[in-house]
Amino acid sequence: MGNNFTPILLALALLLLPVQWESVSGSGLLCKEEERRALLHIKAELSCSFLEWEGKECCHWERVTCHSRTGHVIELDLRYPDGPHMINAYSLLLNATIFLPLRQLRSLSLSELGICDCVAGAGFESWSTLNKLKMLDLSYNELNRSIISSLAQVPSLRIIDLEGNVNMTGNVPVNEFSATNLEVLNLRDCGFNGSLPYLGDWSSLKAFSVSGNDLYGTITSTGLCRLKNLEELDLSYNNFAGTLPPCLGNLSSLKLVDLSHNQFQIEFPTSFFERVISLRYLSLSNNQLEGTLSLILVHFRIIHILKLWHFQQVHRTFESKVPICHFNFRFLN
Ligand SMILES: *[C@@H]1O[C@H](CO)[C@@H](O)[C@H](O)[C@H]1NC(C)=O
Ligand SMILES: *[C@@H]1O[C@H](CO)[C@@H](O)[C@H](O)[C@H]1NC(C)=O
Ligand SMILES: *[C@@H]1O[C@H](CO)[C@@H](O)[C@H](O)[C@H]1NC(C)=O
Ligand SMILES: *[C@@H]1O[C@H](CO)[C@@H](O)[C@H](O)[C@H]1NC(C)=O
Ligand SMILES: *[C@@H]1O[C@H](CO)[C@@H](O)[C@H](O)[C@H]1NC(C)=O
Repeated sequence: MGNNFTPILLALALLLLPVQWESVSGSGLLCKEEERRALLHIKAELSCSFLEWEGKECCHWERVTCHSRTGHVIELDLRYPDGPHMINAYSLLLNATIFLPLRQLRSLSLSELGICDCVAGAGFESWSTLNKLKMLDLSYNELNRSIISSLAQVPSLRIIDLEGNVNMTGNVPVNEFSATNLEVLNLRDCGFNGSLPYLGDWSSLKAFSVSGNDLYGTITSTGLCRLKNLEELDLSYNNFAGTLPPCLGNLSSLKLVDLSHNQFQIEFPTSFFERVISLRYLSLSNNQLEGTLSLILVHFRIIHILKLWHFQQVHRTFESKVPICHFNFRFLN
């Protein structure tokens, strides 16, 4: 989409992940042999030649995190290493069952591995037995929307990142997920089109990005205002139009709202945002705005130092998070 920032803050993702996930430091053998074999199988199946995994102690292997007490693998990061957004040249058919021996897995990144689909009969729906799995990063693969219904069958998932699977097309998959407990869904740059479906029944939703798709229509009847737990809403880089529903001001949990690069008709002062005292980030740039910057600053006490992270970087290590300050209002006088 050419935009070089992603104002989606998913500190939430970090909160959801337990803090006591430490790697192992002692010298006793923690690694479970069954899990070690499963890891080597996964490495071979995914052609992860970038992994140098050797020896018995799989808990010391790079990109593997074990529970410090039980030694079970709880986190696995198989993101392709060659920098961001390098889609592999091959299309990989994933046999999702190769992960099933990792029964305590909580977080899994399979970003940028060129995955195009699952092997017939061995799709993500098999992960319904991985009942600890909360976070799944499938960003920048070649998946199409047929994968969505399988993912919706994994009840433990709280965070799904599908950013950059550019060929999804069709409606944003709200119906598939609204009855689940999914809290964070990143669908940035997925090629979805049409209007935004009704979101109002998705009570667990906390963070939602559909930035950079081909969406249009108004957002007034999408039930957004019923999402009392919504903290982050990113509708930027689409073709949404119409006015903003004033009831957005009732969403007292909102921390981040990015409506930039659309056709919204926004009139200032949009005083309803004033009621959202938790708001830390608001971008309305590149819309059909009326008002002046000074009015905004009066109305939005909010924005001083913004710590915004690229959605994906949030999933990565604390160290790799790069704060991006973004203050990009453009106004028509
Ligand atoms: C998927 O992998 C499992 C475990 O290696 C294997 O038993 C199964 O036959 C594979 N399924 C398919 C459809 O290839
Ligand atoms: C998306 O679809 C187009 C047309 O079907 C194809 O040429 C392109 O390779 C696909 N891109 C990805 C990343 O799958
Ligand atoms: C999704 O991709 C799979 C495998 O590449 C293909 O068989 C299927 O037809 C695609 N589905 C859609 C809706 O494009
Ligand atoms: C979405 O895109 C597909 C493929 O380009 C197209 O066939 C379809 O008509 C579009 N749907 C809407 C609602 O725009
Ligand atoms: C929003 O809050 C106002 C004032 O508190 C109330 O009158 C209105 O019904 C609320 N709207 C929604 C959709 O909850």
